[in-house]
Amino acid sequence: MSLSDFLDSLQKLQRDAQEVFATVTSQESLEAARVRFLGAKNGALKEIQKQLGRIAAEDKPQAGQRLNEIKRSLADAFQQAATLLEEPSVADGKAVAAPTLPGTPLKLGHIHPVTQTIEHLKEIMGRMGFATAEGPEVEDPWHNFVALNIPEDHPARDPLDNFYLATAKGSVGEEGSQLLRSQTSTVQIRVMEVRRPPIRIVSLGRVYRPDDPDATHFPMFHQMEGLLIDRQVTMAHLKTVLRVFATNYLGKDVSIRFRPSFFPFTEPSVEVDFWWNDQWIEFGGAGMVDPAVLTAVGYDPEQVSGFAFGLGVERLCMRRHNITDIRDLYSGDMRFLSQF
Ligand code: DAH
Repeated sequence: MSLSDFLDSLQKLQRDAQEVFATVTSQESLEAARVRFLGAKNGALKEIQKQLGRIAAEDKPQAGQRLNEIKRSLADAFQQAATLLEEPSVADGKAVAAPTLPGTPLKLGHIHPVTQTIEHLKEIMGRMGFATAEGPEVEDPWHNFVALNIPEDHPARDPLDNFYLATAKGSVGEEGSQLLRSQTSTVQIRVMEVRRPPIRIVSLGRVYRPDDPDATHFPMFHQMEGLLIDRQVTMAHLKTVLRVFATNYLGKDVSIRFRPSFFPFTEPSVEVDFWWNDQWIEFGGAGMVDPAVLTAVGYDPEQVSGFAFGLGVERLCMRRHNITDIRDLYSGDMRFLSQF
């Protein structure tokens, strides 16, 4: 027998044996594998060892050395398989030492209180027939200001009161520039640009203003914008919708109050207060959509009218849950968040 034939058969034996040892599932099959490959009488390794005598004398040392290596490696494989069989597994029931011990509890996440509020507000407004609409958080001056009738010199457009993007092309505040939207009123414009009346939507989303954080301010917060456009819409419709909304969200005893105010995109404009827990609390602004806005999106103010409102989502959430500091909502502190 040539040396290379001898080495080949050793190689093949090793491969076969390792495969079998790696897949044994019982003491019986382990023993059968041991006899087959390592058996002292007719084991496969023994059979190959018998051929050693027919190897040329000068090749014998190499053949013998290889034979010993394979013998050791098969003994290891056998040992390993035996150890694995000893180990308790769930499959054979041995792993469950004390079935009545409590398990390790899984940590389940849950929905953030602000997101819960958003879902709740959408649901209430949905029951009054308001569909939801979305708009981008990175906006251009047209949608954030111009179409909303906010003139060039209006303080709301001050670069120091907005997050303009340094990457945008146009110079700050002008065409081509971009900013993080400072109000969800942008979505009014986006919806009216692509749809004809009647329109009845709410849009809930993030807005950004460079305010220093304190108990009632945060540079990012959420608003609920509402828009209804149809024929012969009046202030009474606006007041009714907001009252129904407030009684649904805060409770039956809530009253509503309009205070005269000014917004460039509504005329007349009001500030909206809810009477709740023995005090008037301001929740946002509202009004009848200004004819200039209707014209900017290509509507005929002689044909259609409408109302709009914008309420602070965090403010609603905080009142309902008696949260006193808006920063708690964004601290990521699980001791706070897990209460909701
Ligand atoms: N966009 C206003 C703000 O952020 C809120 C607002 C006032 C929205 C009046 C409206 C509205 O739709 O009619 O302060």
